[in-house]
Amino acid sequence: MKTDKRATLGGKLSAVLVAAGSSVGLGNIWRFPYVAGENGGGSFLLVYALCVLLLGLPILLAEFAVGRAAHRNTVGAYRTLAPAWRFLGYNGVVTALLIMGFYFVVSGWTLEYTVHSLTGELGRYATAEAYASAFDAFIRDPWRPAVYTVLFVLLTHGIIAWGVQKGIERSAKVLMPLLFLVLVVLAVRSLLMPGSAEGLRFLFAPDFSKITARTLLVAMGQAFFSLSIGMGCMVTYASYFNSDTNLRHTALHVTVLDTLVALLAGIVIFPAVFSSGIAPTSGPSLVFVTLPGIFNSLPLSMVWSTGFFLLLVIATLTSTISLHEVATAYFHEEWHLSRKAAAWTTTLLVGTIGILASLSVGVLNGWRIAGLNLFDALDALTANILMPLGGLCTSLFVGWRLDRRTFDEQLTNRGKLRFRIRSVLIFLLRYLCPLVLLAIFLDNLGVFKGL
Ligand code: PFF
Repeated sequence: MKTDKRATLGGKLSAVLVAAGSSVGLGNIWRFPYVAGENGGGSFLLVYALCVLLLGLPILLAEFAVGRAAHRNTVGAYRTLAPAWRFLGYNGVVTALLIMGFYFVVSGWTLEYTVHSLTGELGRYATAEAYASAFDAFIRDPWRPAVYTVLFVLLTHGIIAWGVQKGIERSAKVLMPLLFLVLVVLAVRSLLMPGSAEGLRFLFAPDFSKITARTLLVAMGQAFFSLSIGMGCMVTYASYFNSDTNLRHTALHVTVLDTLVALLAGIVIFPAVFSSGIAPTSGPSLVFVTLPGIFNSLPLSMVWSTGFFLLLVIATLTSTISLHEVATAYFHEEWHLSRKAAAWTTTLLVGTIGILASLSVGVLNGWRIAGLNLFDALDALTANILMPLGGLCTSLFVGWRLDRRTFDEQLTNRGKLRFRIRSVLIFLLRYLCPLVLLAIFLDNLGVFKGL
């Protein structure tokens, strides 16, 4: 095993930062508000928080333990720890490729919005309807969004090709706190808009009658997506952690940060949504239609909007890097390609899917998979099926199959740390996570309907 040749990440801070860099991204700022808006607001938030705490956190820890114990890409990790569970690694690589297929499209939108902020184009409209139709016209354009998608893929490729340590660490370190700060300012501005209280009520007051099997599935999918779990990303990243990294603290910090950013995004979006009469159920366009209105109401609007979208591009980049790394590390270590060739293989694959997904919003919209265009189908397939399935198998693997000593060693750094929550964690991974995940799946298939 050539583990000594693999890069490791610096200190404790770096592990938290790169893992948070992966988890904080479009999932928090674009996906969370629109999915919460479509699924009942407060009731969604409640179920989401429970999913993060009871399913997300334990599975994140489980993936950290697997990754650092094996010191390999996600397929290699399961192959060495228990060959029969290799499929879980493959599930991760395939999921990463499919997520990138649509994630790069939205990444491209944020890049275009950065450019539009700079040129002043984004400040030109006056009403929410005008922003909605401008957004619509842009994403349906046959070539511009596809070009931005490819640009984003190449940007990610550049950083990946630079090497794990330098590329990932540098980009994550400085700019995340800045994004947080800008979000706080925007939240304050949004809360000062007339009628904003309605938005807060929507986000925080749960209406239990709105919780359905679908709410549970979507909230669970969102939790997995947002934390980057259920698909080997955190296994891959943890394989670069050094032996002193405290996995429990890292997992806790990442979960708290990730949830805070999603909440903040909700506090930015919903007051403004209600204040300007936009439907909270507007779907993927929600953030792109709401935010320009908030920027327009600020002095120096162009500075705010350029700053925000630039930071969003960077937060997105730290997520696309982590997705790309799942596949690149796999091609590099399992297929024995050079790192450069491995990165190009990933880039060409996701570039192709990305272009098709981008076109599927416009000219290829008639091309349907189970009633959805390619973009929506990739999103639904990964977040609602593949990631929860990956999470289910991960909890079963670590709960039942992984050697308990290996698990303990990872969580205590070979006996150096105390491990007081051990029995709770094992209970969650053995019983609660698999049962809840299974129940939610079956419920959505309608299995409990007749009962
Ligand atoms: N967690 C990222 C986000 O919330 O934007 C998306 C993501 C990144 C999902 C990496 C999965 C992954 F492996």
